[in-house]
Amino acid sequence: MQVLHTIRQWRDYTQGQRDAGASIGLVPTMGALHAGHASLFGEAKSRGDVVVATIFVNPRQFGDPHDLTAYPRTPDDDRVLASEHGVDCLVEPSLAEMWPDYPNPTPTTVTVSGISELLEGEGRPGHFDGVASVVAKLLVVTGPCRVYFGEKDFQQIAVVRQMVRDLALPVEVVPCPIIRDRDGLALSSRNTLLSGAARHQALALSHALASVTDHDLYASQARRVMRERMQDAGVQVAYADVVDPITFLPTRDDEQGERRALVAGVVEGVRLIDNARIVVAARRD
Ligand code: PAF
Repeated sequence: MQVLHTIRQWRDYTQGQRDAGASIGLVPTMGALHAGHASLFGEAKSRGDVVVATIFVNPRQFGDPHDLTAYPRTPDDDRVLASEHGVDCLVEPSLAEMWPDYPNPTPTTVTVSGISELLEGEGRPGHFDGVASVVAKLLVVTGPCRVYFGEKDFQQIAVVRQMVRDLALPVEVVPCPIIRDRDGLALSSRNTLLSGAARHQALALSHALASVTDHDLYASQARRVMRERMQDAGVQVAYADVVDPITFLPTRDDEQGERRALVAGVVEGVRLIDNARIVVAARRD
């Protein structure tokens, strides 16, 4: 596995691979790699020739400086996991390489309006601008590729898809299923920040989703049940919603069919998210 640090090396590498006829699969990450990332590497390897992974903890998507400082960083383990799961090239750009003006504001920002202001965007203003801006840069430097994202960050995928469409980037966005621990907890780099008791509490997110996804509920019933399940477990609920999976607009009670249930909550100061497909029934009374 090659490990690169500069944009120039990274651009030359991906261009060289394409010139040699190889297709590129890009897996953007913020490190603290786990089995969820490994599944993205595996998917990229099975669908393409060369897997490029990036590790960059992007300060522009963190509103709270404490959250940025606390974000887990495990560079040595990350290299081992990446090389054992088929990554051909690991890019670890420095902050100066990615955002040369930092800590001053970077004048260029990519904003996907609409979706970015809802749910995660409402609770974390500017978060999706930071995500869209860094992913745009990763895609521009990498060039034509498939890019792989886990569905745990379901809204992030919608933001990136819209951006790719609007900017006509030569990229195919590939969503991949959420990987869960045996007890149902969605894998997340942030899980390592949880104590044993908090990890147990965090299970309320996946339990809340499981308690509504196949239960013939209308949208506001599902919202109430999810919120109650999380509150009962002591989770500080950020949202528990049922939305259209493309527009992210809230589902009305007279609508029926396939939607997305999304939850977010804070456990022991750690913000966690999860989501699942849901089929809602229309309210009858
Ligand atoms: O999902 C993540 O890890 C990050 O939001 C991403 C896509 C790597 C952008 O920093």
